Amino acid sequence: MWMMTFLLVLALGLGRAVDLPKAMLTLNPRWVSVFREDNVTLSCNGPYSPGNTTTRWFHNGMETGTRTPTYSIWATTSEDRGDYRCQTGGSTLSDPIRLDVYSDWLLLQASDWVLLEGDQLTLRCRGWRDQLVYKVTFYQDGTARIYSLIPTDFFIPRANRSHSGSYNCSGIIKEGSYVSSALNITVLELFPPPILRAAPSTEPREGSLLNLTCDTRLDPRRPDSRLRFSFYRDNRTVRGWDGSPEYRIPVAGSGDSGSYRCEAATDPQTFWKQSPELWIWVQRTPSCCPPVWFHALFYPVVGILFAWSTFLYITLRRKLRCPVRKKMDRKFSWGSYMGEQGEEEEEW
Ligand SMILES: *[C@@H]1O[C@H](CO)[C@@H](O)[C@H](O)[C@H]1NC(C)=O
Ligand SMILES: *[C@@H]1O[C@H](CO)[C@@H](O)[C@H](O)[C@H]1NC(C)=O
Ligand SMILES: *[C@@H]1O[C@H](CO)[C@@H](O)[C@H](O)[C@H]1NC(C)=O
Ligand SMILES: *[C@@H]1O[C@H](CO)[C@@H](O)[C@H](O)[C@H]1NC(C)=O
Ligand SMILES: *[C@@H]1O[C@H](CO)[C@@H](O)[C@H](O)[C@H]1NC(C)=O
Ligand SMILES: *[C@@H]1O[C@H](CO)[C@@H](O)[C@H](O)[C@H]1NC(C)=O
Ligand SMILES: *[C@@H]1O[C@H](CO)[C@@H](O)[C@H](O)[C@H]1NC(C)=O
Repeated sequence: MWMMTFLLVLALGLGRAVDLPKAMLTLNPRWVSVFREDNVTLSCNGPYSPGNTTTRWFHNGMETGTRTPTYSIWATTSEDRGDYRCQTGGSTLSDPIRLDVYSDWLLLQASDWVLLEGDQLTLRCRGWRDQLVYKVTFYQDGTARIYSLIPTDFFIPRANRSHSGSYNCSGIIKEGSYVSSALNITVLELFPPPILRAAPSTEPREGSLLNLTCDTRLDPRRPDSRLRFSFYRDNRTVRGWDGSPEYRIPVAGSGDSGSYRCEAATDPQTFWKQSPELWIWVQRTPSCCPPVWFHALFYPVVGILFAWSTFLYITLRRKLRCPVRKKMDRKFSWGSYMGEQGEEEEEW
């Protein structure tokens, strides 16, 4: 009993620890790259447990003395660089946010270092002490991507993997031309392109169940996200967007043969991917040809019947011939007196 109670309490305790949500850390302003002397406020969002309203803050793994839900840095210095994490009374440790502090004429500010496909990315080219910057060019891996005479943000509403790279910007402040240092930005796969699978096979028998599955997996960093799926045959929708990755054809017919494809999308639908084509060939059940057991029975039976009828034929022939011959012999013997020939023919 004691042991049971102990185990129950342990299980409840572990269950609670696993069930706790992760704290969310946000930056205000949103930039992960800032100028020296900028002011930055970090906010920790997460639930509190009853009787525990503390928020803990960690900078490069060391706990800071701050206990409030926000953590403010007035006039950053290079010592404020690094990873920040937080935790509220009812949450687990947040993912880290890396803050980088620059001392330069021109700074490329980014809203994230690492993002997932479909996320938005904003880049800003900013002058020291907010001096006006003209003729701004944003570069990705050394290639000019956007040019603007007046200051503008470089906004990517739905990032994809091709947006990963090293970014910098150039511009003119007063009479001088400047180039910012480069930032590395990584866009990670939110989910791999789906693969369409067919069960029991891609060549099901007519009349059998066909089960199509749109197979992919969301990045675990997005536990709250959900995917939706749709299915197509020969480029026509056979099942519209739905939360189920399965499409079932309870009774497959020859009309269900064709080239199938599926799509997986985030919900709400901001980003989607397509599977390669999969050919489904529904095998006609041939009504002309009998099944194997029929062949197995048919030939022996026909063989036996043939043998039996041959036997019957021979026997009947023998039995029938005797009286006929005798009658004919009688005719012959009456007509031509050759009674002995009939006797010989009976040997045949
Ligand atoms: C940071 O905040 C202080 C106090 O509010 C303000 O004087 C200063 O101008 C701010 N610095 C920047 C770069 O905005
Ligand atoms: C309050 O919550 C924090 C963060 O989860 C935890 O580290 C701390 O031990 C808790 N304090 C009490 C008194 O339970
Ligand atoms: C930075 O910008 C310059 C153009 O001013 C370009 O030639 C260079 O390749 C860029 N650097 C990187 C790392 O993208
Ligand atoms: C990535 O997004 C850009 C538009 O921002 C688009 O032109 C490009 O085709 C996309 N690349 C892929 C692989 O989806
Ligand atoms: C960016 O990444 C490249 C290699 O991908 C590396 O050589 C470079 O040092 C990185 N730059 C920064 C600023 O981290
Ligand atoms: C369909 O196939 C998938 C994977 O092949 C399987 O997980 C699922 O249980 C199947 N559903 C039915 C109704 O057979
Ligand atoms: C579906 O459409 C694509 C492009 O629109 C085409 O290349 C492909 O052949 C089509 N497939 C079928 C089975 O019609």
